[in-house]
Amino acid sequence: SVKLIIDTDPGIDDALAIAYAALHPDIELLGLTTIFGNVTTAQATRNALYLAEKMGLSIPVASGAEKPLTLPPFAPKTRVHGLEGLGHLPAPAPTGTASPLAAAQFLCEMAERHRGKLVICPIGPITNIARALQMDTNFARNVDKIVFMGGALDVRGNVSPYAEANAFHDPHALDVVLASGANVTMVGLDVTLKVLLDEQDFSHIATRKHPVGPFLKELGAFYLDFYKSIGLSGCGLHDPMAIIAALYPGLFTMESMALEAVMEGEASGQTCRSQSKTRLPSHVALGCDADAIRHTFFSVFDQ
Ligand code: BDR
Ligand code: CA
Repeated sequence: SVKLIIDTDPGIDDALAIAYAALHPDIELLGLTTIFGNVTTAQATRNALYLAEKMGLSIPVASGAEKPLTLPPFAPKTRVHGLEGLGHLPAPAPTGTASPLAAAQFLCEMAERHRGKLVICPIGPITNIARALQMDTNFARNVDKIVFMGGALDVRGNVSPYAEANAFHDPHALDVVLASGANVTMVGLDVTLKVLLDEQDFSHIATRKHPVGPFLKELGAFYLDFYKSIGLSGCGLHDPMAIIAALYPGLFTMESMALEAVMEGEASGQTCRSQSKTRLPSHVALGCDADAIRHTFFSVFDQ
C-alpha cells in the first residue's frame, strides 16, 4: 500500500480528499500536516483533528507554518468554505491534540524513516514542503513523490485571471518545490475543473454504506452554493484529484516540463513553463479520464 501524508487546509474539498484517503484500502495514511489557506493554520489543525476522528483515524496531525515563505500573512476568505472551513457546520471542538512536532519537522522525519516510499499530497499552499526542503537537504531525495493540488497551466486561474488559490497564496514556496529536483506532479485547474460533483453525486455518497456520507453531503451543499454563484453546475473535485493522481497516475495525461511560479506583479501565483536550463522537469496533469476518476472516488464509500 501507498504510505501517504496529506498537507492540508481543510476546507471542504480537503475533507473529501482526507475521506477518500482514509477509506481507500490501498492507502496507509501516516499523518496530516496543516497549513493556512482556506482557514488559518490554527483552524486548519482543529479541523484536521476533527476530520481524522470523524473518519476513524488515529494518526498524528502536525501543525504547519503560520504564514507564507515571503509574502505577508493574509486573512482567509470565508465565502468558499465557510467561516471555519467546514461550510455551515460549527467549529468542531478539538478532541485530540496536535503532534509536538511542527509540520516541516514531521515531514522530514517521516521521509527519512520511510526513505524512498513516502508520498506527500499537498492540497493547500505548499509552504510546509518548501520549509522541509530548506530544513533537510536529503528531503527531496528521501521522498518518493510529491503530488500537489495547485496551479493552472493552460487555463485561467480561480483567484485571479492567472493564479489558482494554493499557488497564489505562496508562490515563493511553490517555486522552491518546483526547483527542488524532487519527483513533483502538479494537479492543477487544468484537470480539477474537468470533474465536477453535483447535488446528485453528494446524495449518492450519502446513501452508500459508509456512515461518513451524510456528513460529506452536508459539507458539499455549502460548497455547491458557492460554485452555483459563479455559474458552475457542480464543484471541482480539486483536492481528491491529487490523491487519485498519486495512486493512479495512469488516469491522467501527464506532460513532463520544467515549471516555475510567477512571484510578483499582477500574474503572481501563475504557474508556467520554465526556460531554465538547470531546472529538472515536473509532471503536469493536463488531461484526465473523468469517468474513471469519478468511479474510484465513489468506490471508497461502498465499504
Ligand atoms: C484549492 O483552493 C482551495 O480553496 C481548495 O481547497 C483547493 O485546495 C482549489 O483552487
Ligand atoms: Ca485545499
